[in-house]
Amino acid sequence: MKKICIIGGAGHIGLPLALKFCEKNFFVDVIDKNKSALKKLEKSIFPFYEAGGKKLLKYCIKNKKINFNYSYESVSEADFIIITVGTPLVKKKPSLNEIYQVIFKIRKYLKDNQSIILRSTVFPGAMRRITKKIKNINKNIGISYCPERVAQGKSLEEIENLNQIISTDKIIEEKKIKKLFKNICNEVSCCTFEDAEFIKLFSNAWRYVKFAISNEFYVMCRDNNLDYKKIHKIMKKDYPRNFGLPTQGFAAGPCLPKDAVQLYLSNKKRSKLIKTAHNINENLPNYFVNNLKKKLNIKGKNIGILGTTFKSNIDDERDSLSIKLKTLLQKNGAYVYCNDPYVKNKKYLSINGIKKKCKIIFVATPHEKYKNIKLKNNIVIDCWDYIKN
Ligand SMILES: NC(=O)c1ccc[n+]([C@@H]2O[C@H](COP(=O)([O-])OP(=O)(O)OC[C@H]3O[C@@H](n4cnc5c(N)ncnc54)[C@H](O)[C@@H]3O)[C@@H](O)[C@H]2O)c1
Repeated sequence: MKKICIIGGAGHIGLPLALKFCEKNFFVDVIDKNKSALKKLEKSIFPFYEAGGKKLLKYCIKNKKINFNYSYESVSEADFIIITVGTPLVKKKPSLNEIYQVIFKIRKYLKDNQSIILRSTVFPGAMRRITKKIKNINKNIGISYCPERVAQGKSLEEIENLNQIISTDKIIEEKKIKKLFKNICNEVSCCTFEDAEFIKLFSNAWRYVKFAISNEFYVMCRDNNLDYKKIHKIMKKDYPRNFGLPTQGFAAGPCLPKDAVQLYLSNKKRSKLIKTAHNINENLPNYFVNNLKKKLNIKGKNIGILGTTFKSNIDDERDSLSIKLKTLLQKNGAYVYCNDPYVKNKKYLSINGIKKKCKIIFVATPHEKYKNIKLKNNIVIDCWDYIKN
């Protein structure tokens, strides 16, 4: 049985991937520096929301397919070492620090003929730098970059159904990694490191720009007292060329803005389209707050926010524009109260609590649970034109 180590394996990308490999009979060692997540996992508690995650985790633990480790020692026994640590912007710039730290920590455990697979998102040119670092260890190690493209919350389904990108610098390694991924997915495409770096960033930038276009149209409609929901609906009705137009809404989270920025910086800041998309998306909370301020004085008012996560039906508040909205309202002197059915936060109120306490309510994240709520006696700013009533 082939053995896999996933470093960063308790995170949003590492854990679903670990479970998919376990499901297909691999033995997986999850290595992570987050002790509290590891403790939860040992007790079969999934540390965040992922559809189907709880059940599969229980299955893998019961069948002794998975181990959770804080130390890196088990790297020495692995056939494949997959790195899924974060690549956040540091001082507004892409950074490979977390990846380099992992390489530094595992170097003494590496052996000839092992394969290192990077799954975290990196900027163009990064793989050549990472390859150089690994080659300096002087072991015969295969290196590949297989970027993750799932939508958080749907990873388990999407890992299987999305085309997986595989890039290596040696044909023999390409065959090996292709065979590995074919265990958990239907389709793979092979390409160079540079191709894979751009494919990943273009995929996210494409979505991000589409959201920006819709947000721009929305603002234009509002400024002209037009109903974008109606216009959007008619635009798309029986007109397939418009089907790809998303609704307006907060486009954020730990990936889309970061990846757009990485792409923009890698292109020597030449892509005005990406820069503009970033401005449009990031400014939407300001637009809502400024509009509200034109109509009433919000200083000292109780304002409710429904939905604090960065997108619907998940529990992740990282880089959420709902949180930016909250901060903006507070800066303008409002008292802000939040509800989110997916987030455990003692300060958050129930939906009824928000309805009673706050005359003004923002629907900031389109969770399914909000679809049918009735907000008759409130001033409602539905950022997504989402709720029915
Ligand atoms: N979240 C997504 O939807 C998504 C989608 C596609 C790609 N990605 C990319 O995948 C990567 C990971 O993102 P994520 O959302 O899973 O982040 P995350 O923060 O949820 O997971 C990263 C994990 O790595 C661990 N870690 C960090 N440094 C470590 C070290 N030295 N040793 C051991 N563990 C360490 C952290 O404790 C954490 O559990 C990023 O590059 C991101 O851009 C994310």
